[in-house]
Amino acid sequence: MYDAGKIISGIIIFFILVSFPIWISAASGTIGDVPELNLPADEEQCVEDAEWMRANHMDLLIDWRETVVREGVRVYTASDGKEYNMSLTDTCLDCHSPKAEFCDQCHDYVAAVPNCWSCHVDPGGS
Ligand code: HEC
Ligand code: HEC
Ligand code: HEC
Repeated sequence: MYDAGKIISGIIIFFILVSFPIWISAASGTIGDVPELNLPADEEQCVEDAEWMRANHMDLLIDWRETVVREGVRVYTASDGKEYNMSLTDTCLDCHSPKAEFCDQCHDYVAAVPNCWSCHVDPGGS
């Protein structure tokens, strides 16, 4: 026959065991350690929605570069119909400056080193 009490405590023990690595890393700070991003205080939204940007901003930027340099087109129409000047410095960093408190926070975390800044200006940089 089923013993409800045993089954329930079995389930509880199972979940504690399965989630054990999460407790450990939460306690040692590795989970709370994701980079802190300084989001623009006076802006509500990005060029595209934040989740999409997180995953695709690198491709978007390369796209912008190709479009500007090869086709001489500088206007990007976002999926909500808003238009943006396709510019790394004048657009992205107009909202996300200084880059040290935004772009670099993530890139340092994932050890990505985009080489853009040897040519492009970081308006918030020193
Ligand atoms: C008009 C101001 C503005 C412009 C221009 C802008 N952003 Fe954003 N961006 C924001 C805001 C505000 C958020 C946070 C939105 C949210 O949380 O819903 C954001 C979010 C993001 C995120 C996600 C951050 C996270 O929470 O993980 C990335 C990545 C990003 N932006 C990169 C860029 C890049 C690259 C460009 C240029 C192609 C750009 N942004 C242009 C305002 C802007
Ligand atoms: C939410 C975290 C996050 C934020 C914020 C963020 N990035 Fe990134 N970025 C990444 C990740 C992750 C990669 C991919 C790294 C890889 O694939 O090695 C990346 C890659 C890139 C690349 C491609 C690098 C390469 O050499 O292939 C560019 C360019 C870039 N980011 C520009 C920006 C700019 C400009 C900003 C600020 C406006 C920004 N990112 C903000 C997480 C972020
Ligand atoms: C060797 C120098 C150099 C490097 C490195 C470089 N760029 Fe550029 N980029 C240029 C030049 C020059 C232009 C053309 C400027 C113009 O026509 O406004 C340009 C144009 C662009 C544009 C469109 C115009 C604008 O104002 O932003 C984007 C977007 C862009 N680059 C993104 C990037 C990204 C992202 C990286 C890094 C992954 C990068 N670039 C690395 C030199 C460079």
